[in-house]
Amino acid sequence: QTSSASTGDLTTEILQALSQKDPINSTEAFPQIPFEFIKAALDRLASRSMVKYEQIEREEAFLEPEAEIIVSHGSHEARVFDAVHKALEGLSIQDLEKEIGDKTVTKLGQGKAFKEKWIKKDGSKLVALVDSINDVTRDQLRVIKETKTHDAKIIADLKKRKLLKLQKVISFTIHKAEKFALEMVKEETDLTAEMLASGAWKEATFKPYNFKALGADQHAGALHPLNKVRSEFRQIFFEMGFTEMPTNQFVESGFWNFDTLFVPQQHPARDLQDTFYVSDPPKAGRPTATGPDDKADYEEYFKNVQQVHQDGKYDSIGYRYPWAEDESLRLVLRTHTTSVSAAMLHKLAQQKDENGRVPPARYFSIDRVFRNETVDATHLCEFHQVEGVIADYGLTLGGLMEFMDMFFGAMGVTDLRYKPAYNPYTEPSMEIFSHHKGLNKLIEIGNSGIFRPEMLEAMGLPRDLRVFGFGLSLERPTMIKYGISNIRELLGHQVDLSFVQKNPAVRFDK
Ligand code: PHE
Repeated sequence: QTSSASTGDLTTEILQALSQKDPINSTEAFPQIPFEFIKAALDRLASRSMVKYEQIEREEAFLEPEAEIIVSHGSHEARVFDAVHKALEGLSIQDLEKEIGDKTVTKLGQGKAFKEKWIKKDGSKLVALVDSINDVTRDQLRVIKETKTHDAKIIADLKKRKLLKLQKVISFTIHKAEKFALEMVKEETDLTAEMLASGAWKEATFKPYNFKALGADQHAGALHPLNKVRSEFRQIFFEMGFTEMPTNQFVESGFWNFDTLFVPQQHPARDLQDTFYVSDPPKAGRPTATGPDDKADYEEYFKNVQQVHQDGKYDSIGYRYPWAEDESLRLVLRTHTTSVSAAMLHKLAQQKDENGRVPPARYFSIDRVFRNETVDATHLCEFHQVEGVIADYGLTLGGLMEFMDMFFGAMGVTDLRYKPAYNPYTEPSMEIFSHHKGLNKLIEIGNSGIFRPEMLEAMGLPRDLRVFGFGLSLERPTMIKYGISNIRELLGHQVDLSFVQKNPAVRFDK
């Protein structure tokens, strides 16, 4: 507001100055006004063809504080000469120092005065060799103080001696143009009904549209980049017929997080090193119905899980170790959302009809998981997992690969590579890799597999139902899309809020 008000006055001042003299130089005519304001006013006048202008860039020299002292007191060497010259009998170095009152000035000045052959040493005293000297440095600095410039070589010399600094100064040469006048005609910004009715529109001058103008900053709230990417993923899932799983429970029992997934109780993932355990309350209750409509027999399921681990069941020999209920009822911050997939698949089993069939299903979730990791540029103790599950009949590993190609293809990630991997709950398992152009190498983008019968049959799902599962982090694609190399710029207390506000939504398919 202030700047537009001041450019408003300035346009009139420029027009007035031009009516007296053409051309004018902006620094002469308006020495106090910053060049940005002058340029804004000139652009307004030039867009109406009232003035023309050229921009001139010049380097000007300004005296450093030391140079100011030289201008007022003389150069070091001149001061030394004056002191020595004044003392007719010559001066001892101590007396010279006293006279000048500054050790460095004395030392530097002396050296230079010797070199110029203005003084010499006579016994223990300094005596003058000439009657008068020319203080060239002071003269040069005086000229520069006055005119802001000098010979290029002199400027370079003085700058090297740190007596000057150079500054770029922008000014304008301003001329009258075709539509020059003393007043700027008011330009209409809108065509109004009144102008149409009165015919005033015929005479009016309209302000041209400025298509380069940026919209006003709205200072509105903004979705965090992770949320933007999350909504993009959700869209892809919905378009592929998935429904969202409820993931609002961060604390799970070991039963849901591990045992249901056929993760043995001695598995390293269950170690304190990898998993955050909750100590209060000390343990979870055994799994029970989640509501009045939940008719599942959780006691039976609990027993099935124990048996398949300990003794084997469903044609599996199991792990053959003593399965401990206490371990199963420990509370953990969920290490993956696959615990939720397990609960959802167990619910799906309850939809069995009289022929023992359940309907095909597709579930997804995107939510937070926790792992006891050392925090570094690419790892935090918590991150977001994108998880998908597809249950159907006649599914094959080739079908899983085809699905993954389609899913990542929807995000613009193509040319996937698959590598055999191991998960306790899937067989076969595959890590998914993609070639990262920026890093020029294959990077892991997901983990997947076909859930094991030990897991599915314990839930009561039919034998010929196959279930794909896959998981990936939300952070990794977000970092790639937004060009972030340190995860702490994305999540946590070091996040710059303007980064959140200014970043556009990403489109994976663009
Ligand atoms: N739980 C796996 C992970 O955390 C992802 C996954 C889910 C893998 C389902 C296979 C099947 O990486």
